[in-house]
Amino acid sequence: MLNNTATPSLYSGKLAVLYEHQDDIGKYQALAQQLNIPLCTSTELKQKKMLSAMFFLAWRDGCLRLIDEKLLKKGGLTVEIEPRPGEQRSWPAPKDSALAKALGRKTKSVIDATTGWGQDSLHIFRMGYDVHCIERSPVMIALLKDGLQRLSQETWVQNCALSVPCLLEGDAIELLSTLPSVPDAIYIDPMFPPKRKKSALAKKSMMVLRDLLGDDEDKEQLFTAAYKAAGKRVVVKSPDDAQPLMDKPTHSFKGKLLRYDVYLKGDNHD
Ligand SMILES: C[S@@+](CC[C@H](N)C(=O)[O-])C[C@H]1O[C@@H](n2cnc3c(N)ncnc32)[C@H](O)[C@@H]1O
Repeated sequence: MLNNTATPSLYSGKLAVLYEHQDDIGKYQALAQQLNIPLCTSTELKQKKMLSAMFFLAWRDGCLRLIDEKLLKKGGLTVEIEPRPGEQRSWPAPKDSALAKALGRKTKSVIDATTGWGQDSLHIFRMGYDVHCIERSPVMIALLKDGLQRLSQETWVQNCALSVPCLLEGDAIELLSTLPSVPDAIYIDPMFPPKRKKSALAKKSMMVLRDLLGDDEDKEQLFTAAYKAAGKRVVVKSPDDAQPLMDKPTHSFKGKLLRYDVYLKGDNHD
């Protein structure tokens, strides 16, 4: 086991890179070093030399995956680049989802300030918006870079000569005040504390994210930064039973177990 933990890691004891003897170890070593986390091999894991980590990162089937103890034998969570079930596969997909309604008919450019697994960003991208992504968690940044790289190789992306969304690394509260151009809309989907029982919570990927990163305690500050930086509107995704992040939204659009609250700036109405 290679230990990179000379300085304390953000993920101390929670996360390690797992090398399963399948390909060149170099990129695994580089990732462990970049994230300042240990690297262990599947042999060491079998010998129970690496029991303290709750999560592992490894490339499986050509995708960088986040793996918890239950997924160790098979699988792992990755940035899914395929359209969601029911979503049109041609580009641009119709703007008929609750999210598109919340973004508004006149919106062209969107910043997703809380990219996470990139599922909302990529849905927005597939609908033809110009999307920039922001993420601050180094582990999610590594997973997103891998997903965006795979997306750039997709035939439909190349045939349509599209540039995949650009990823800005860092805290959106700071980055939003330094943008080179003003986006029409800023989208935020921070981590809310779970109100429902775990069984009713949406997806495993979100439960894992909460276990790894915790709740986003600074969402009000993020909203303030987003409202300042947006050209026309801020859209906040929240669980349908959560209080709006700020006062009274201008509009709300309901999805399945969730809500998009829209905060318009000035007299922008569409
Ligand atoms: C609930 S997840 C977002 C899920 C995402 N909408 C998706 O479709 O996969 C929240 C993510 O936002 C990130 N985040 C929260 N606050 C942030 C901030 N101020 N700057 C950058 N990233 C932030 C967290 O690290 C986490 O990855």
